Amino acid sequence: MKIFSPKSRQDFDQYFDLRWRILREPWQQPRGSEKDDLEDTSHHVMICDDAGQAIAVGRLHAATDSQGQIRYMAVASMHQGKGVGSMLLNALENIAREKKFSSILLHARESAVPFYLHHNYTQLEKSHVLYDSIQHFKMIKYL
Ligand SMILES: CC(C)(COP(=O)(O)OP(=O)(O)OC[C@H]1O[C@@H](n2cnc3c(N)ncnc32)[C@H](O)[C@@H]1OP(=O)(O)O)[C@@H](O)C(=O)NCCC(=O)NCCS
Repeated sequence: MKIFSPKSRQDFDQYFDLRWRILREPWQQPRGSEKDDLEDTSHHVMICDDAGQAIAVGRLHAATDSQGQIRYMAVASMHQGKGVGSMLLNALENIAREKKFSSILLHARESAVPFYLHHNYTQLEKSHVLYDSIQHFKMIKYL
């Protein structure tokens, strides 16, 4: 297994493909819907298996000068629940510490709230509902 920041076009193709397959395809969303306009200025981390296939991806961007925001955490279905997401989250949190952010904000899908609670995020209020079905909760962690 290898954890790194994608650099090449090939890395990014795999990176966005996994993001789309986990976070968009199940809701019949088109390719391209997995990206926003902050990709170029964000920090991206991915984990590949020994065959070089992406199994986990996630992103950190600056919400403000002092606060990072994590978005688009996605672990390939067959690799979920084995600690890969935790490894990825720790790497993103380490980047946030290097950037001297004092906190990390995120909007967690309801199904992922226990994962972030496990990593000492505090659940704040309900936030948006994606695709009329996925309730999100605002969560924060002070570093
Ligand atoms: C949410 C996600 C990123 C977590 O990654 P993961 O690799 O599956 O999680 P881990 O194996 O690292 O889990 C770490 C801990 O959190 C707990 N946990 C993870 N997901 C959980 C869940 N849905 N419910 C309860 N506990 C959960 C695990 O039990 C584990 O605790 P343990 O170490 O004591 O066993 C991943 O499951 C995923 O991509 N899900 C689908 C997409 C998604 O929801 N992304 C988040 C968008 S906000």
